[in-house]
Amino acid sequence: MCGIVGYVGPKDAYDILIESLKKLEYRGYDSSGVALKTNDGIFIAKKKGRISELESDIMDVPTSHLGIAHTRWATHGAPKDENAHPHTDCTGTIAVVHNGIIENYRELKASLAQKGHKFTSETDTEVVAHLLEEYYQGDILSALFKILPLLKGAFALGIISLKEERILAVRQDSPLVIGLGSGENFLASDIPALLSHTKEFVIMENGQVADIRADHVDMYDFDGDDIPLKITHVDWDEAQAEKGGYDHFMIKEIMEQDQAIKNTLLGRVIDNHVILEELTPLQEKLQKTERIYITACGTAYHAGMVGAYLLRHMAGLDVEIEVASEFRYAKHHWHDNSIGLVISQSGETADTLQALRLMQADGIPVISVVNVLGSSVYREADASLLTQAGPEIAVASTKAYSTQLAVLYLFAIYMARLKGLLDNEAEKHILQELWNVPEKVRVVLNQAHTIREIAQDTYKTNDIFFIGRQLDYMLALEGSLKLKEISYIHSEAFPAGELKHGPLALVTSDTPTIAILMQEDIMEKTISNVSEVKARQGDVFVLAFERNKKALHDIGRWAFFVPDTLPLLGPLVGIPVLQLFAYYNAVLRGTDVDKPRNLAKSVTVE
Ligand code: M6R
Repeated sequence: MCGIVGYVGPKDAYDILIESLKKLEYRGYDSSGVALKTNDGIFIAKKKGRISELESDIMDVPTSHLGIAHTRWATHGAPKDENAHPHTDCTGTIAVVHNGIIENYRELKASLAQKGHKFTSETDTEVVAHLLEEYYQGDILSALFKILPLLKGAFALGIISLKEERILAVRQDSPLVIGLGSGENFLASDIPALLSHTKEFVIMENGQVADIRADHVDMYDFDGDDIPLKITHVDWDEAQAEKGGYDHFMIKEIMEQDQAIKNTLLGRVIDNHVILEELTPLQEKLQKTERIYITACGTAYHAGMVGAYLLRHMAGLDVEIEVASEFRYAKHHWHDNSIGLVISQSGETADTLQALRLMQADGIPVISVVNVLGSSVYREADASLLTQAGPEIAVASTKAYSTQLAVLYLFAIYMARLKGLLDNEAEKHILQELWNVPEKVRVVLNQAHTIREIAQDTYKTNDIFFIGRQLDYMLALEGSLKLKEISYIHSEAFPAGELKHGPLALVTSDTPTIAILMQEDIMEKTISNVSEVKARQGDVFVLAFERNKKALHDIGRWAFFVPDTLPLLGPLVGIPVLQLFAYYNAVLRGTDVDKPRNLAKSVTVE
């Protein structure tokens, strides 16, 4: 995930920028760069690789008291020197760093190019520098207010101009904070970067612009109206700071999911249609596709199961799905007009990569859903749909799963359209519901304390079962994996209808069961299974939609109701509940949540 820092004040800007940038390394990045305002112009240095490589590349650091710097996590354009930030206008007198996505950058770039602007990178960011140049008449803030209405998407921006002693900052959906000093001020994409300089922060909100000078900061809304500064005092230690004030990376990553899903949808839903430009080269092939082979490991496989369901139900496709460690050794009778779909957070999972190669060797084009741009899966797939989760550090996958689901919903809608199975109205309806998911996920995340209370009741248990049918069962599998891997509580997920074919023998008053009841067409069937558990004195936890509260509030010992949406989208709004449940059980048991025993984040061996 990109990181932004900025400094204006009497000290040497370069040292402060590099030191602060290093504090953002934990966010993950592939290149870095710095822009310094000097007496001879704006000095720019940028480099693919580690910050240390940038440092060794700069022979003479010019004197400067104002600058911005950036760590880049590639989204548009490969990780290379030219694509690293800062980006400048044609005159090299305006420099910009950016975190997020300018969704409409292609059309902006085309119209700027027509006016004669020369672009030197493949990034979406560069359009901002050229737009500012286009509107600049001696005051960069006025130019900024003119271009803001033209930008669509998510953006945190840091901007400097050679002729002015100020840093401008803009926040729209990507975080930014201003650090307040005495006779100096700072900018960063998060608090840890600046903690060695100040404990006083202004945490910018969406739709705000800051004009940061050495001796004062002014804040505005996008219309240019003044906003009073809201100062927050932060007292974190260093370890807390790295985790954004949370106790673990896992909870930080769980809490980031509303934004991560939003980032993944951004630029891909335009005028009520799904646009997946990455798939354009395969479009003809996809039109003829009748069968899809899906493969992945662990959590990514669970996301794949949801994908398989969606592709079968929405796009009428024949789907085969198998975990990659089996898929690669299985006997396949490939069908004509098939494509492969592999899913991976890291893009380096050995079994997934081998399964991808196996399909390609047999002439099956493969699409990947992957989080790391430039990873092996990304590079080797015939086309890749990037999730925009940002770096995931905790071993237990959370935001990678929800963003993989978001991409799979988009892909299923895209395929349904290609197959002529979704009309405009139906597409609009599901996309509007999908677009509202991040807000609903936030509602769930804000109730984390309720789930912690439930975990107080379960964390001493040895076994916890999960049941559900169809999409609810697929979600149950992921909830159960999360719980076992971090809390070490033995857990299994069963299709609810299978209980009485064996697992029911294990149910006693000591085995709580989590029953997922979001697929309303088959909910009554699962309710019967809940009764079977209760008849064996098993405690039941119900996860369902708010609209069914009246009917379901007392069927279990605990119940959690998520905001209403289409049952089809149940896994997206339901998963944060199960992740939080796993997290709090683990915390209460005192396990090493971020690095559970025996597990690794990236499984690059068989
Ligand atoms: O990087 P990948 O998505 O390919 O990783 C796949 C699995 O190793 C991963 O999802 C694993 O199951 C997680 N620890 C689950 O939380």
